[in-house]
Amino acid sequence: MKKHIALVPGDGIGPDIVREGVKVLSAVAEKFSHEFTTSSYAAGGVALDSVGIPLPEATLDGCKQSDGVLLGAVGGPKWDTLPSHLRPEKALLGLRGGMGLFCNLRPAILYKQLSDACPLKKEIIGDGLDIMVVRELTGGIYFGERGRTEDRAYDTMAYTVAEIERIVRKGFEIAQKRSRRLCSVDKANILNSSQLWREVVQRVQSDYPDVEVSHMYVDNAAMQLVRNPRQFDVVVTSNMFGDILSDEASQITGSIGMLPSASLAEDGFGMYEPIHGSAPDIAGKDLANPIATILSVAMMLRYSFSLSEEADAIERAVNSVLDDGYRTADIYTDGMKKVGTSEMGSLIARAL
Ligand code: NAI
Ligand code: MG
Repeated sequence: MKKHIALVPGDGIGPDIVREGVKVLSAVAEKFSHEFTTSSYAAGGVALDSVGIPLPEATLDGCKQSDGVLLGAVGGPKWDTLPSHLRPEKALLGLRGGMGLFCNLRPAILYKQLSDACPLKKEIIGDGLDIMVVRELTGGIYFGERGRTEDRAYDTMAYTVAEIERIVRKGFEIAQKRSRRLCSVDKANILNSSQLWREVVQRVQSDYPDVEVSHMYVDNAAMQLVRNPRQFDVVVTSNMFGDILSDEASQITGSIGMLPSASLAEDGFGMYEPIHGSAPDIAGKDLANPIATILSVAMMLRYSFSLSEEADAIERAVNSVLDDGYRTADIYTDGMKKVGTSEMGSLIARAL
């Protein structure tokens, strides 16, 4: 298979970790006889420094013309005092909006080798956690009508059937590739938009008879994630509920340096990035954990290129390197072998 990938390393540790993602991508190309070419584009602080805006047109165009985007992270203290339209984060919103990335996937996986990093009790996590949060990314209360006067303010949670249906179908399709269990999270006891959400799930369900569906109110879901997270496999939910629940789910898995994400458009095109930021405190010091980025590469292969065997191979390689006791500083515990960013990437590429 021949694919062209747009790299947007960004700021801070972004270039350090994207380099390791590319290393693993090259190893996949060699092992499975694919041809992956790449082009790098500026976004965030580096773009502000070179051309004065956070998202140059050439970057958005290059990303649109690619088969998939791998992003590091943007931002840092150097640009914190700029007005909001010139903040590096504007680049992220511009890329997401500009490419119609409505479906945000955030897998929260606790690797059994790292179970000491999990804040939950051993008997609750059993032999590990593996939850996929499917979050609607371009609708709901973050995009609804809003307003304020001096003593009153409001935001509106609005969803159309079409907006709900496209994200819910994604949830079903992902559930079909996993354990065939889908939990739809809403607040249908109170909210009209949630009642519509639930109606759409119930109608669409008949197209996926092999998937077992459950419904849960968001307040209960927040509680259940801590009480018994192993009951969840795929969770599909609206923009704000997904924002909150995916952050909660990521924390029960330990290190922020381990968690990848995908943001997908209707046609499967996607942008892939670690969930962490640019970590300016450790940038350029060979300290960053590249695993979140390497797992984001695996998601690109699985979701944009339908190369699930290759994606599985990356995930197995990560597991085997962890089994061998190699740890970057953020996941290091006594008795393990401490390695830097570049060595971790090389170990995973070699394990492939
Ligand atoms: P952060 O995620 O960059 O860092 C939080 C803490 O986690 C730091 O101590 C950092 O050293 C550590 N950390 C993060 N990633 C790591 C990795 N791969 N390996 C080891 N340790 C890691 O969040 P923070 O400090 O709130 O933000 C720093 C900058 O990043 C800000 O300018 C922020 O706006 C930006 N940011 C960008 C995001 C993006 O591009 N998607 C997301 C979140 C923040
Ligand atoms: Mg959030």
